[in-house]
Amino acid sequence: MTSLSSTYPDALVQAPLVVAITGASGSVIGFRFVKAALQMGIPVELVMTEKSLQVIHDELDYKVTGHTEEDKAIRLLEHLKLPSDAPLKFFGNHRLDAPPASGTHLTRGMVIVPCSMGTLGRIAAGIGDNLVARSADVTLKEGRPLVLVPRESPLNQIHLRNMLTLSQAGAHMVPPMLTFYLKDFSSVDGQVNYVLGKIFDVLRIPHQLSARWGQ
Ligand SMILES: Cc1cc2nc3c(=O)[nH]c(=O)nc-3n(C[C@H](O)[C@H](O)[C@H](O)COP(=O)(O)O)c2cc1C
Repeated sequence: MTSLSSTYPDALVQAPLVVAITGASGSVIGFRFVKAALQMGIPVELVMTEKSLQVIHDELDYKVTGHTEEDKAIRLLEHLKLPSDAPLKFFGNHRLDAPPASGTHLTRGMVIVPCSMGTLGRIAAGIGDNLVARSADVTLKEGRPLVLVPRESPLNQIHLRNMLTLSQAGAHMVPPMLTFYLKDFSSVDGQVNYVLGKIFDVLRIPHQLSARWGQ
C-alpha cells in the first residue's frame, strides 16, 4: 500500500479547482473563468447557485439544462466550445454529499465568481447550508486559497464588514474592477481577461490573459 505522504504532493498538483457561480451580475466572468481553467488543463468542480441560473439566463441567454449532473457538464462544455472530455464535473448546490463538501477531498482551492452579497454573507456567518457556502467554509478551514469576486455597487457597511471578516479569515477579495492603465479601452472582452488574470495571479497559476505593467 502506498503511504499518504508519498502520494500527497502529486495528488495536490492534479487536484481540481472548485468554482462557484452565484446570482450576482457578471456570469460571463464565471463562464470565462471555467473555460480558461479547463483550457489550462486544470480539472474544475463547478457548483452554481439556484439564483445564478436565472442571472445566466438573463445575461447570457443560456439555460443550464440536462437531467443529470453529467448531462449538465457535457452541455456546458458544448456551450463553451470545449471538447467533451475536458475535466469538468458539475454538482447541484443542494449536494452537501458532493466531494468539495469534505476537507478530506483534496482541491487546489476555490473561486467564487461572481460572488453575490448573499453568498458572501452566508460564508462570513459560517452558514454552510448549501454546497457553495459549505465548500468555501471547508476551503478556509483547510487553509487552501479561497478567492471571492464580489460584485455589487455601491457597497453598504454590511457588505464591507463581511468582506473584512472573510479577508481576516484568509480569503482573497478580487472585485471585478476595470483596468485603465493597460489602456485596453476597446472591449469588455479585454476587461474580463484582466479580471481572470487577477484571479489566476492570486492562485499563483501562470497565465497570459492580459498584459502586465512594465512588460
Ligand atoms: C439580473 C440580476 C442581477 C443581480 N446582480 C446582483 C449583483 O450584482 N450582486 C448581488 O449581490 N446580487 C445581485 N442580484 C441578487 C442576487 O441574485 C440575490 O441576492 C440572490 O439571492 C443571491 O443568491 P445566491 O448567493 O445564492 O446566488 C442580482 C439578481 C438578478 C436577478
